Amino acid sequence: MKIEDLVRKNILALKPYTCARDIYSDGILLDANENSLGSTAEGFDSLQLNRYPDPHQVDLKQAVGKYLSVDAKNLFFGVGSDEIIDLLIRIFCNPAKDAIMILDPTYGMYKVAADVNDVESISVNLDENFQIDFQAVQNSYKDNVKIIFTCSPNNPTGNLIRKQDLLKLCNDYNSIVVVDEAYVDFSGDNSLIGEVNNYPNLVILRTFSKAWGLAGVRLGFTIANESIISFLFKIKAPYNVNSLTRSAVLNAIANFEQKKSFVEQLVLERERIISELKKVPGVEKVYRSDANYLLFKCKRASEVQKNMAESGIVIRDRSSYDMLDNCLRVSVGTVDENNKFLDLLKKELCTK
Ligand SMILES: Cc1ncc(COP(=O)(O)O)c(C=O)c1O
Repeated sequence: MKIEDLVRKNILALKPYTCARDIYSDGILLDANENSLGSTAEGFDSLQLNRYPDPHQVDLKQAVGKYLSVDAKNLFFGVGSDEIIDLLIRIFCNPAKDAIMILDPTYGMYKVAADVNDVESISVNLDENFQIDFQAVQNSYKDNVKIIFTCSPNNPTGNLIRKQDLLKLCNDYNSIVVVDEAYVDFSGDNSLIGEVNNYPNLVILRTFSKAWGLAGVRLGFTIANESIISFLFKIKAPYNVNSLTRSAVLNAIANFEQKKSFVEQLVLERERIISELKKVPGVEKVYRSDANYLLFKCKRASEVQKNMAESGIVIRDRSSYDMLDNCLRVSVGTVDENNKFLDLLKKELCTK
C-alpha cells in the first residue's frame, strides 16, 4: 500500500510554512519577531517563554522514543490526541467527498472532527461483545472511506479490541486504520506499537492525559509509518507544542515510576469498584474494563446520573448510545471518591 495514494492531492502539493528555526536555533535570534528582552511571566526563566518552542519536537521525540523503544522518525506530537485526530482527517479526507468509518459505541471526537471538516462519518456497530463485526464493516465500507477509527481499550465500553482483528482491518482495507490507545496503559501489555513498521496504514494514538496524569498540559502523540509522520509535520501549525507542555512532559517521563504506581492503584480500585457494583441491587450489569473507567447498566440510569450530579458526584450518562441502554460510565477516582460514589449510588438505587 502506498500511503501517498490515500493523501489529498492538495496536501501532497502543499508548500508547508517554513521558518528560520527549521535551520537555525542558536545565535542572536532576530528572525521571529519575539521579545528579546524577556517574558512577563515570573518564575519560568529556564523555559525561555519569550522564544517560540522547537517546531521539530526533538527533545520530546528523544525522550518518548527512548521510553517506548520507538524510533524518533515514527513519532509526532499534538495538542492532545484530539488535535491529531483532526490533522489525520485533514490529510486524508477531501471535504464533501471522502468518509471515515467509526465503530460504535465509541469516543465521540472522531465524528465531531469529521463533521467539522465536512467529512461523512459512517457508523458501524460493534458486535454484542463490543468486538469488530467484520460483516457489518464490509457491508458499509465504501471506496471513499479513507480512515477507519478504532479505540482499544474502547471508550466508553472499556474493553480491548482483539489485536488480530485490528491487524486484519489493516490488511483487508485500503484505508488508514487508527488505533486509539489512550487507555492502553491500564490494560497490561496490549499495545500495537510493535506493529507499526509491519503495517504502513496503522496509526496509533496515545496521550499524556490519562495514565500520566497530565490532561491539563494537552499532549498527545502518534506512532506511525514515517510517511504519515511526515504529512503530520507538513500540515501542523509551526509551533503546536508549547514550552510549558514540553517541560512538564519531559519531567514526567523522567518520573515514569509514578505513572506505574498510578496505574497499579487505579487498576486495583477499578477491580474493587467492579466487585462492589455487582453487589448493588438495581445494578443490572457491570462490564469488564481494561481502562481507568467502567461501564455499568442500572435501572433509571439517566435519572440516577442527574440526581447524583446534583448531589455532587458527576459520572457520565451513556444511555443514548445504541447498544448502551441504561448505561453509565464512571471514572476510577481516589479510594475516597470511589467510596462516596458507591455510597451515593446505593442510596439512589435502593431507596427509590
Ligand atoms: C479514546 C480517547 N481518545 C482521545 C481522547 C482525548 O485525548 P487528549 O486529551 O490527548 O486530547 C480521549 C479523551 O477522553 C479519549 O477517551
